[in-house]
This record gives sequence, C-alpha cells and structure tokens, in this order.
Amino acid sequence: MPRLGDIGPTLLAALALGVAIAAAPAPPSRAAWPTPDADALPAGPWKDAVLYGRALFSDTSTLIGPEVANASMRFAGNNLSCQTCHLKGGTQKFGLPLIGVYGLFPTYIPRENEVRTLEDRIEGCLERSMNGRPLPIDSREMKAMLAYLQFLSTDVPVGRVLEGRGAPTLPLLSRAANPERGATVFLERCAACHQMNGLGMRKGPAGSAAGYLFPPLWGPDSFNDGAGMHRLIVSASFIRANMPLGTTHAAPVLSVDDAWDVAAFMNSRPRPARSGLDRDYPDRSRKPADAPFPPFLDGFPLDQHRLGPFQPILDATVGRSSRRGQ
Ligand code: HEC
Ligand code: HEC
Repeated sequence: MPRLGDIGPTLLAALALGVAIAAAPAPPSRAAWPTPDADALPAGPWKDAVLYGRALFSDTSTLIGPEVANASMRFAGNNLSCQTCHLKGGTQKFGLPLIGVYGLFPTYIPRENEVRTLEDRIEGCLERSMNGRPLPIDSREMKAMLAYLQFLSTDVPVGRVLEGRGAPTLPLLSRAANPERGATVFLERCAACHQMNGLGMRKGPAGSAAGYLFPPLWGPDSFNDGAGMHRLIVSASFIRANMPLGTTHAAPVLSVDDAWDVAAFMNSRPRPARSGLDRDYPDRSRKPADAPFPPFLDGFPLDQHRLGPFQPILDATVGRSSRRGQ
C-alpha cells in the first residue's frame, strides 16, 4: 500500500501538467475482498437461517450426508462438504469462492443449455461433486443454503463479477498432461494429507457421518465423473492456486507443469460414474474443451479432451464456452 505521501507528489505533478486524471488507464482493482461475518448478525430468524446454511456448507456430511441416522435426510452421496472445494466456507479468494455469486444467478449454463437458478446450481454440485440427489427447493435446508449464499454477497452489486471468482487462469501446456509424472508429484506433495492411496483420512469411524480431516481425491466416496472438478482445466487451476492446503493464489507452490500433471493423475484414478453424461452440453458447440466424455463435435480424440493439449481444440471451435466449470 503506498502511503499518501508517496503518491501525493505524482498526483500534484499530473494536475500541474493538466493531465486528465480520469482518463488515465484504470489501475487494477484494489477493492478489498469482502469478509462478511455471520456471527456479527443481530439475533433472530435471519441469523438462524444464515448460520444453519453455513453449517450445511461446512459440515455437509453431518447434516445431509450418506451416513446420517435419518435416511430421508441423506442428500449428499459422499462424505465431502461444500467447503471441501469452496474453501473456508466459500470465502477464499480464488478458492472457488461463493462471495459475490448470489447476484450472478439466474444465468445461462452451457451444461444444460438453459437459464438456471442458484438453486439449480446448488443441486448440480449435490448431484455431481457430492454424488447425491437434489434437495427439495422448498426445504428448510435449501432456504438456509440460499440465505447463507445471499449473506456472503452482502454489499456486492447484483451482476458484478468479483476478481477472485473461481480459480485463476492457469497457462495451458503445449503438451498433453502426464499422469505418470503426476503420480510422483502426488507422492511428494499430496500423499501426506490425502494419503498414499488417495482415499483421505476420516474424522471418525466409517458410518459416523463425521466427514474428513483430509478428503479423498478419488475412490467411491469422491466426486463423480460428471463433476466440474473432474475436468482437467478446472482441477489443475484449483490445485495450483490452493494446494497443498494453505497455498494461496498469490504464492503458488507447485510449478505450472506439476499442477497439470498431478491433476491429470488424480482424474485418471477410479471414481463414481454418473449416467447420462452424453446428454450434458446438448449444444455441442458449447462443450468445454476439457469435458472428458463423448460425444464431441470436433475431431479430437477423447484422450486429448482428458489430458490436452487444449489450445488446438480451443482454436478449432469458435464460440466454445469459457473455461469456467459450468
Ligand atoms: C496439508 C494437507 C494437504 C496437502 C499437503 C494437500 N491437501 Fe488437498 N486438501 C486438503 C484439505 C484439508 C482439503 C479440504 C479443504 C478443507 O476442508 O478446508 C483439500 C482439498 C483438496 C481438493 C478438493 C477436494 C477433493 O476432495 O477433491 C483437491 C482436488 C486437492 N485437495 C488436491 C490436492 C493435491 C493435488 C495436493 C498435492 C499437490 C494436495 N491436495 C495437497 C489438505 C491437503
Ligand atoms: C468436489 C468439489 C466440489 C464440491 C464438494 C462442491 N462444489 Fe460447488 N463447484 C465446484 C466446481 C469445480 C465449480 C465450478 C467453479 C467454476 O466454474 O469456476 C462449482 C460451482 C458452484 C457454484 C457456482 C459458482 C460460480 O462461481 O458460479 C455454486 C453455487 C456451488 N458450486 C455450490 C456448491 C454447494 C452448495 C455445495 C455443497 C452442497 C458444493 N458446491 C460442493 C466444486 C465443488
């Protein structure tokens, strides 16, 4: 942060020269990343809903996971939490945050080729990232989740995309990602937490609904093959900016090559299959280059959609949907 004393003379000099300050190129946005604090809300039904939504988000397995005692409350199909991927309760810049997302829905989603609501988007993560089933729209849980997401967007204007959404753009490789090389990166950088077998470490015994200390990266209790995290561009970008845990986008630990290769290794391991993926992206021209399942409009082989290189695919299709994980 420059002190006022540092910029004052420049400003004065510019004024003296008659330079139109307003016409100068805008500096990168210095807007502070919002840090909404739910605990500071005044007591009452709104706070109760926001806090229940936050609990559903951070302790998903305990409240609506596959091991909860009341079978009718089992909506998530694995023992992950929303914040396993949307880090720190959805507040981590470039950690797939949900700050500022409330006012961006309804929006056009290429995966279904239609305009979808925030409720639809939440169901999408429940069915794919959490390998589960949809929550009833009028349930107390869906309302609480929406209340929490709306709260996270306090003071963010409707329609404004914050810098920090998703994960930072990762430079593409000119080669295919290499899962064998990624296995070495995994052993060196990831296995200490996610375990050698990639299946993570639970907080309690199986069946306790307690969730994970370190989540699985593959296997039966992981996201399914229709999830955004199963797309290589999405997962490599997330991993480079956020893993090993504690990494931030401002100081990535992995090299660009290591991030691509370890993501390719992760996504080459077995995981639950989602049926009907051929019905995703019904407008095939909108199918992202890294959607790793057929059919494809372009002539590129399945392996290139799984591992890259992606630039030739992107170049071949004008109007291809963005790199976002929708
Ligand atoms: C210090 C422990 C630690 C290390 C090392 C680590 N992770 Fe993680 N990782 C976590 C935790 C914990 C989470 C869940 C975030 C949370 O609950 O706050 C996570 C989440 C993830 C997720 C998203 C959730 C999921 O289950 O898929 C991916 C992907 C991931 N890590 C990949 C990696 C990769 C690849 C490496 C190595 C480059 C790595 N992690 C290294 C602790 C770690
Ligand atoms: C295995 C990882 C994972 C888990 C678990 C997960 N998500 Fe997601 N979610 C993603 C990815 C990847 C995206 C796409 C991000 C992008 O487009 O950049 C996403 C996108 C979203 C979006 C849209 C964000 C935007 O910027 O448009 C919402 C809302 C959302 N998830 C809600 C949830 C909720 C609620 C849960 C828990 C019920 C959940 N997610 C669990 C990975 C996950």
